[in-house]
Amino acid sequence: MNQIDIKSAQIGLIGVGNMGEALLVALLKAGSDAGRIKFAVRREERSVQIAERYGITAASIQEMAATSDVLMIIVKPQDLESIMQSVAPTLKAGALVISFLAGKKIATLEAGLGQPAVARVMPNTPTLLGVGMAIVSFNKMVQPDQRSFVNDFLAAAGKSIEVEETLQDAAAATSGSGPAYFFAFVEAMIAGAIEMGIDSTTATTLVTQTILGAAKMLDETGKSAATLRENVTSPKGMTYEGLKVFEEGDLDGLVARAMNAAAARSRAMA
Ligand SMILES: NC(=O)c1ccc[n+]([C@@H]2O[C@H](COP(=O)([O-])OP(=O)(O)OC[C@H]3O[C@@H](n4cnc5c(N)ncnc54)[C@H](OP(=O)(O)O)[C@@H]3O)[C@@H](O)[C@H]2O)c1
Repeated sequence: MNQIDIKSAQIGLIGVGNMGEALLVALLKAGSDAGRIKFAVRREERSVQIAERYGITAASIQEMAATSDVLMIIVKPQDLESIMQSVAPTLKAGALVISFLAGKKIATLEAGLGQPAVARVMPNTPTLLGVGMAIVSFNKMVQPDQRSFVNDFLAAAGKSIEVEETLQDAAAATSGSGPAYFFAFVEAMIAGAIEMGIDSTTATTLVTQTILGAAKMLDETGKSAATLRENVTSPKGMTYEGLKVFEEGDLDGLVARAMNAAAARSRAMA
């Protein structure tokens, strides 16, 4: 079997919507040759748009299944069953299948596609800006060169971490849903500022720049969130008074319950 790498692999993308397009950009950034990438979407106008924008070629799912070294499935979870029926009869021997579908288990892809090498990836929305956080699990059929392909490609989309598949739901409830948790917190802070008399535009700027600065401090200082929090909290000071309300309202318990609910939903989607 031929070894694959980012530059030489023949790649097929099934689904180039929001996430698929972000992943396509990452593939090209990682060094994939547009001439070796084929894709399929449902709508003709989207197909023309993607082909023109990136110089890649539209193909049937059957053709991509037969010719791709790496087949990426980036459709909504409810479309997986019919996609697998189109892929299975012609899937190239030794191909790597990468699924980006929330909740769908490796075993489902193995059963539907005749036990190929499978990588299960859960990306998140900041992938659209190249600062994504992806979680990846591999099955036993995945070869070292295929694993390197996935890691190299995901590095161009942000960061990736390999986890046991049993942790996928918990990890997805952390980084997959995570951006939405932070957006909800930002909304709540903007509402709080408005309630205290600040206009909406000013409140949005104050909160957005604050969360950006806080995220940069976490990323660049090497200090933990706890240390950074303690550094801005003088005893009996104003931040102390604010954080005390979080503690009294059991912020930790509330967040844990939210994350557990998201993980439970991910398990139910399997
Ligand atoms: N967006 C996110 O933030 C995010 C985060 C984590 C995981 N994901 C996962 O990524 C997957 C895709 O999400 P998305 O937001 O990119 O969805 P999306 O924007 O709706 O894109 C879905 C794509 O699949 C195509 N498609 C559907 N059925 C097809 C078929 N039978 N043949 C060919 N193409 C087909 C659609 O084509 P048309 O547009 O022409 O209909 C579209 O290009 C989901 O499973 C989701 O769980 C997404």
